[in-house]
Amino acid sequence: MSNAAQPVQMNDREFPMSDHNFSTIAKIAYQYTGIKLPEQKRQMIYSRIARRIRALNLANFDQYCEIISDNKHAEFNEFINSITTNLTSFFRENHHFEYLESTIIPHLKKIHERDRRVRVWSAGCSTGEEPYSIAMTLLKNFSGSSNWDLKILATDLDSNVVATGRNGIYAADRVSGLESALVKKWFAANADSSRYVVADEAKKLIQFNRLNLLDSWPMKHKFDIIFCRNVVIYFDKPTQKKLFDRYAEQLNDGGYLIIGHSESLHKLTDRFESIGKTIYRKLK
Ligand SMILES: C[S@@+](CC[C@H](N)C(=O)[O-])C[C@H]1O[C@@H](n2cnc3c(N)ncnc32)[C@H](O)[C@@H]1O
Repeated sequence: MSNAAQPVQMNDREFPMSDHNFSTIAKIAYQYTGIKLPEQKRQMIYSRIARRIRALNLANFDQYCEIISDNKHAEFNEFINSITTNLTSFFRENHHFEYLESTIIPHLKKIHERDRRVRVWSAGCSTGEEPYSIAMTLLKNFSGSSNWDLKILATDLDSNVVATGRNGIYAADRVSGLESALVKKWFAANADSSRYVVADEAKKLIQFNRLNLLDSWPMKHKFDIIFCRNVVIYFDKPTQKKLFDRYAEQLNDGGYLIIGHSESLHKLTDRFESIGKTIYRKLK
């Protein structure tokens, strides 16, 4: 046998995670959130759940699996928060914000000339960078926006990211890639410029709520635009199909659905037409 370092086996770890433990965790995650946890996610799940086992002073994965089998247990929410992947950034996939500015907003100005009311939903908003980018784009383009009733609903399954979004305070590295004029306009830095607070004008547009997309939705009104970017990538096709059809129901006629760069509606729903790269309009 070679002396080269062998990959660390799961069973050499602080808490062994059996196949049965992993499949129990994956099953509960899928049932409750739609998130698929394939074999490649095993290592990631190990480290995230081991952290929870340590926090709860439990002895092993068996005990943890027993706890999360009860979705009323106080730990269940922490479990859900620990399986989500929240990668995001301000003006991520910037072509969507360019399209919003060049095409969608001028169209919304026309169709809402009378009621002056625009509704946007950022579904799977993570820590808030997406809804704030939408707010900044709306405010920039609806000049004299005080005459317009602009609202953004920002929702996510993970209660921690929703709280971060609601606070609207970001570490300096979150804004370091943005143009300095934009940072100056929309953020206030603290004394040592380590934290940046989003301007109240943008904050005021957004309502942050926790919402599991698989549950029933409490919203009574329809939206002009739904952003659901880099969320369905974690779901299987049947879950994606159901969700896209529900989005069609929740959009005004001709409303816009914007999805992530590696996502597609192809073969999943005929209720939208493609009008640009990962940008769709509701047909029916
Ligand atoms: C990778 S982030 C995408 C954030 C943002 N939309 C973007 O593109 O930058 C995916 C988000 O989807 C959320 N998510 C996953 N499953 C969800 C579900 N069933 N209901 C609501 N949000 C969910 C996660 O918590 C996570 O914050």
